[in-house]
Parts: sequence; C-alpha cells; structure tokens
Amino acid sequence: MINKKIEEAINKQINAELYSAYLYLSMGAYFGAMNLPGFENWMKVQAQEETFHAMKFFNFVNERGGRVILEAIDKPEVEWDNPVAVFEEVYKHEQHVTDLINKLMDLAIKENDHATRVFLTWYIDEQVEEEANASSLLEKLKMIGDSKNGVFMMDHGLSKRVFKMPAKEED
Ligand code: FEO
Repeated sequence: MINKKIEEAINKQINAELYSAYLYLSMGAYFGAMNLPGFENWMKVQAQEETFHAMKFFNFVNERGGRVILEAIDKPEVEWDNPVAVFEEVYKHEQHVTDLINKLMDLAIKENDHATRVFLTWYIDEQVEEEANASSLLEKLKMIGDSKNGVFMMDHGLSKRVFKMPAKEED
C-alpha cells in the first residue's frame, strides 16, 4: 500500500508530466504554423513520451493500491520569438522536471518507501537523456543561426523521429 504523502506527490507529478505533454504539443503547433513539419513531429513525439511518463506513474499508483486524482492542466505558452527560444525553454523545462523527480526521490528515501525509490530510478535515467537531447538540439540550432538552409536540413532530420515504447513496457 502506498503512503498518502507519496501518493499526493506522485499525483502532482502526473499533472506535471501531462503539462509537459501539453507544452510540447503547443510548441508543435507553433512549428506547424511556421511550416516546419519536422520540428512539429519532434514535439508531437516528445508529447507522446510525456504522456507515457504520466501513465507509468498512473499505473504505479494503481498497482500500489493508491488513488489517482487528475487535476486541471495549466495553459501552456503559445508563442515564442524563434526556434532557439523554443529549445531554450525545452531545456529549461527539462531541468525543472529533473528537479521535481529528484525531490520525489528525496521523499521516497525519507519515507523509507523502497518500491517507489526503485521505480523512480527509471525516471532519474530518463531525465539524463531528456536534458542531453534538449541541450544538443539547442546547441545545433544556435550553430545554424540565421541560415534558412540549415533550419530546413534540421527539420528534415527531426521528421524521422518516431515514438518508441521502452522495451519492458511492451510485454
Ligand atoms: Fe517527463 Fe520530459 O520529462
């Protein structure tokens, strides 16, 4: 049985993950309106990943005999100055999510909840990847600068991204 403090904290994290999905969908819509379908695709796949993160928490709460409570999702931003500004926000947002996951881990340790602690290690690893991806795309965009050709080439590359279910979850 999950304890109340952990249950509440995970419910908040479900909301944060769904907000992340919403934020990335909003960024996808921005890129769609800019005629950059590859960037739009990357953001849509990112939103699918965030929904997956939320559902993994959702299923965990249920499995541990807790109660999932869904709260309202905040409205995300809709406009950015340019693609660099979007990826600056992605990077900043992922650092914020890492902080939230670390705080959840601190709570699981404090509450001696070993099952939650082990479960959270997946997210700790995932955040390393999330920050690395965001930072690498931001750096690429900064290098490209004002080159339209560079942006179109990058758009083509990002159009190839597909959502992959992590292996263990496919069973
Ligand atoms: Fe669910 Fe992008 O962290």
